[in-house]
Amino acid sequence: MSSPPIVAPFPATRLRRLRRTPALRALTTEVSLSAANLIWPIFVTEIAGGAGEIPSMPGVERLTLDGAKRAAETAMRLNIPAVCIFPHSDPDLKTDTCERAWDPENIGNKAIRAIKEVAPDLAVMTDIALDPYNANGHDGLVRDGVILNDETVEALVRMALAQAEAGADILGPSDMMDGRIGALRMALEGNGHKDVAILSYAAKYASGFYGPFRDAVGASGRLVGDKKTYQINPANREEAMRCVARDLAEGADMVMVKPGMPYLDICRMVKDQFAAPTYAYQVSGEYAMLEGAIRNGWLSRDVVLESLLAFRRAGCDGILTYYAPQLAERLA
Ligand code: PBG
Repeated sequence: MSSPPIVAPFPATRLRRLRRTPALRALTTEVSLSAANLIWPIFVTEIAGGAGEIPSMPGVERLTLDGAKRAAETAMRLNIPAVCIFPHSDPDLKTDTCERAWDPENIGNKAIRAIKEVAPDLAVMTDIALDPYNANGHDGLVRDGVILNDETVEALVRMALAQAEAGADILGPSDMMDGRIGALRMALEGNGHKDVAILSYAAKYASGFYGPFRDAVGASGRLVGDKKTYQINPANREEAMRCVARDLAEGADMVMVKPGMPYLDICRMVKDQFAAPTYAYQVSGEYAMLEGAIRNGWLSRDVVLESLLAFRRAGCDGILTYYAPQLAERLA
């Protein structure tokens, strides 16, 4: 008896079927990215001659107050829902006591009011940490080389109330002191600002990827020591989850993972464990790496979109990125 002809097993599953045409690929796209997912960080300077391109962040400029207003109008036109203000403040006015951090007339608060004048519907996010106004470059008050937790939290509360008073919609505590979210939330509730949101930099790592940012805000040469006693050890995952759990329990409305691309595993864990509004910060060093390689012709500009899609795939609702205006323009 002859055996039946051998038929090669038919591949019932050919995953390439759905990749064949642009229409099929569109139908099977799993995550999306739109301007609505973006928060645009901007640097605002009060220093005469301080405006202009930041050498370690090619394509990103420090803005004057007028420049910040124009950026706000650009954000509105491109449907970017929020900008985040970072102050480039006068180095001669930085002190170890940081009192300018809660001065209603500091450059950060001036920028909030200026933006609200021209773009009242744009959400304005701020940074809460003492470093822009601190003579020693730290996010907290320092005594005998030690970063003081509770004294810093008191200062942060003052800073937050001044920002809320100036019209901020979202406060972004980036300092990593313990107990700051609870203290900020209570102060906001008690002082007529119960609807001001807190986007906590909950899982903020002690990262080398912040280098260009510190150039941008003029903190680079200044930092005495490092930030390892308050920012998270890059080797840790569980600690980040405890930070997020704690900040949500204390009254954070939204949480952030920072940096972004090297910490996508953390983004996914946060979204899965807490199901809260989750954001990643594609930080200055990530921008510098991509933009440097793109400008050298080593990578195509398509990597920008790919890098941001990764955050959406990892579960993030949105991304703080210096690419926000460029990407929104491209998506429009
Ligand atoms: C400091 C702060 C930093 C960034 C945002 N807020 C730097 C730091 O912690 O030293 C970094 C953002 C970036 O690198 O783009 N409060």
